[in-house]
Amino acid sequence: MKKVFAISGSTKSSSTNALYISAISHLLGKDFEVSVFPTIADVPHFNPDLDLENQPKVVSDLREALQKADGIIISTPEYAMGLPGSLKNLLDWTVSSASFSGKPVLALVASTQGEKAHQSIIDVLTVLEAKVFSQLIPFAKAKINFEAKITDQETLTKLKNTIHAFVLALENE
Ligand SMILES: Cc1cc2nc3c(=O)[nH]c(=O)nc-3n(C[C@H](O)[C@H](O)[C@H](O)COP(=O)(O)O)c2cc1C
Repeated sequence: MKKVFAISGSTKSSSTNALYISAISHLLGKDFEVSVFPTIADVPHFNPDLDLENQPKVVSDLREALQKADGIIISTPEYAMGLPGSLKNLLDWTVSSASFSGKPVLALVASTQGEKAHQSIIDVLTVLEAKVFSQLIPFAKAKINFEAKITDQETLTKLKNTIHAFVLALENE
């Protein structure tokens, strides 16, 4: 059983990105155990003074979960032409721990437009040495229903291809 750790860049309770993570979990099927990081809103502001020792528990738990995962999913909205601050903050805590190094990461930007956040997540994950498989889903809310079924066929086909590439990388680990 492969372990996949998922992070939503949205702190919203009824989040479109959370629905996309559910859709991906379903498409991955039974051979994958997907656990979703529950506490992005509780990750403290990145502080270099606490980066190498005396990290907050939520940060050490996060790093451990990332380290144990065979692959990682990130699904995020775009906020004000970039990544949401809470997601960028979380990623900053993983620079020194190299938690993403060599890991396959399926990075989705599910937003209204999202081009800038899409470029940004590719840039950040590349600097973190992840193996990035990304997809931009503009007008994302209109392409998925409340049961987490993707209703737009073109998006679904493309996502299946992205997932396929992610799974191949994960199985070759
Ligand atoms: C503060 C704020 C800023 C936003 N800025 C952008 C933006 O720059 N580009 C964009 O495509 N969508 C922007 N949006 C729209 C969200 O990306 C969109 O509603 C997304 O579907 C929210 O995802 P969620 O439901 O997972 O939180 C913004 C939304 C908020 C709340």
